[in-house]
Amino acid sequence: MSELSLTSQTPVAAVILAAGKSTRMKSSVAKPLHKICGDTMASFVIRACREAGVERIVMVVGHQSEAVINALTGDGIEFAVQHQQKGTANAVQAAEALLGDWAGDIITLAADTPLLTALSVRSLLDLRHSTTAPMAMLTARLDNPTGYGRVIRNTDGTVNRIVEETDATPVERQCTECNPSLYAFHGKDLWAALKLIGNSNAKGEYYLTDLVEIFSSSGKPVVAQPVADVEEVLGVNSQQDLAAAGAVMRKRILNRLMAGGAVVVDPTNTFVEIDVEVGQDTTIEPFCMLLRGTHIGERCTIGPYTRIEQSTLGCDVRAIASWISYSTLDDSVKIGPYSQLRPGSHLSSGVRIGNFVEVKNSTLGPGAQAAHLSYLGDAHIGAAVNIGAGTITCNYDGFLKHETVIGENAFIGSNSTLIAPVTIGSGAYVAAGSPISGDIPADGMVIARQRPTIKEDWAAAYRLKKRAEKEKRSVKR
Ligand code: UD1
Ligand code: CA
Repeated sequence: MSELSLTSQTPVAAVILAAGKSTRMKSSVAKPLHKICGDTMASFVIRACREAGVERIVMVVGHQSEAVINALTGDGIEFAVQHQQKGTANAVQAAEALLGDWAGDIITLAADTPLLTALSVRSLLDLRHSTTAPMAMLTARLDNPTGYGRVIRNTDGTVNRIVEETDATPVERQCTECNPSLYAFHGKDLWAALKLIGNSNAKGEYYLTDLVEIFSSSGKPVVAQPVADVEEVLGVNSQQDLAAAGAVMRKRILNRLMAGGAVVVDPTNTFVEIDVEVGQDTTIEPFCMLLRGTHIGERCTIGPYTRIEQSTLGCDVRAIASWISYSTLDDSVKIGPYSQLRPGSHLSSGVRIGNFVEVKNSTLGPGAQAAHLSYLGDAHIGAAVNIGAGTITCNYDGFLKHETVIGENAFIGSNSTLIAPVTIGSGAYVAAGSPISGDIPADGMVIARQRPTIKEDWAAAYRLKKRAEKEKRSVKR
């Protein structure tokens, strides 16, 4: 935290605007709840504020307020409701009931800038404290400023006003210094100035951006500083913007993993969410998805084509083209290609799961194997057990789930059907093709299939008979 240490002891509160309708997203989901890399846009903004040392966070909600509050309750923030969306200044005013007597600084920002970092929030606060100006803001020089408010500076470098694109003259539109909507004030100055904002503009809304002109025209300077990295202030207003923000966030996450010694073969084709850890010398092959809450040890090889969600993998694990969720894999496990670990699976060290195997809510002891085509559900399988190809645990009777228990070193022959509840003792042998519905003692053997009936020369005789029948029929025609 050293580089983020507070430059001043002034406490800071944040007002995050999230009440707007977001028509341009063309979605029934409230804009702040759209996700990138496993979390909502609003949560990313909240996280940046927290990391920057902001003490109180008030989110202004309006459109779909209930959904937004439900999704974000638990993040330790407060909510203010803006009943009618009359513009960004009116939205900030909705927070006055909660922060009206806040003695410190207030920053205002929008919930649709998920790439913002704590470092930039700190730089905004540092800028505010570097002068006596009542308002500080960040700006962004963009190659394509379309859609953003333009920052019009005075000759001394302070800001004269911000003009919205819809209200800008052709000359003002040429300006590429844009407003990313990141401002800092002393609380008292903010609430006093907000009362002076009117709505005589192209949209008839109360614009927060008008604060600049209110301060500067009364002789109080507004200071502005370009943000370090313009990617940070990309505002998400459409699905295209959302995808672009996701790509930037992914790049950041992958860079963090690579800085820690992970090998990412093709960063443009690797999808990693937040809260994922990958150990040193672990290789992520192309087309993998590592979802939130996944922890992978050292020297593993993941992929190609593997999706892992909320799972923990030890070291030296190999997972090819498989789907793993809510499971634990100890050291040196091998899985795939084309297998699925469903929630509650625990594979001990050295377990080998081959192709087309589905495991659900089951434990496999050290060195156990299921190499081909099996379903193992609600099973407890001991060390070094061999599960033959095609073995199925029948864990469901149409009403309840039942357990299969297999002792260590047991050998389950191919195509066995284990009808749960059932226990196979350790070291026991189950002959291939056996349906097993009762317990088998340790070191015992069970064969549950019909003895074959062999009829010599039967097939030859059958063919002769059938050919004769066929000829008779064609003669009649
Ligand atoms: C705003 C700025 C613009 C800036 C841009 C950066 C204003 C007037 N314009 O424009 O200068 O370049 O952000 O992204 O401030 N909101 C409410 N209540 C409302 C209206 C909006 O809570 O009544 C919220 C929205 O949910 C959103 C944020 O405020 O999170 C910004 O609103 P939006 O409509 O996206 O503003 P822009 O047109 O992008
Ligand atoms: Ca916006």
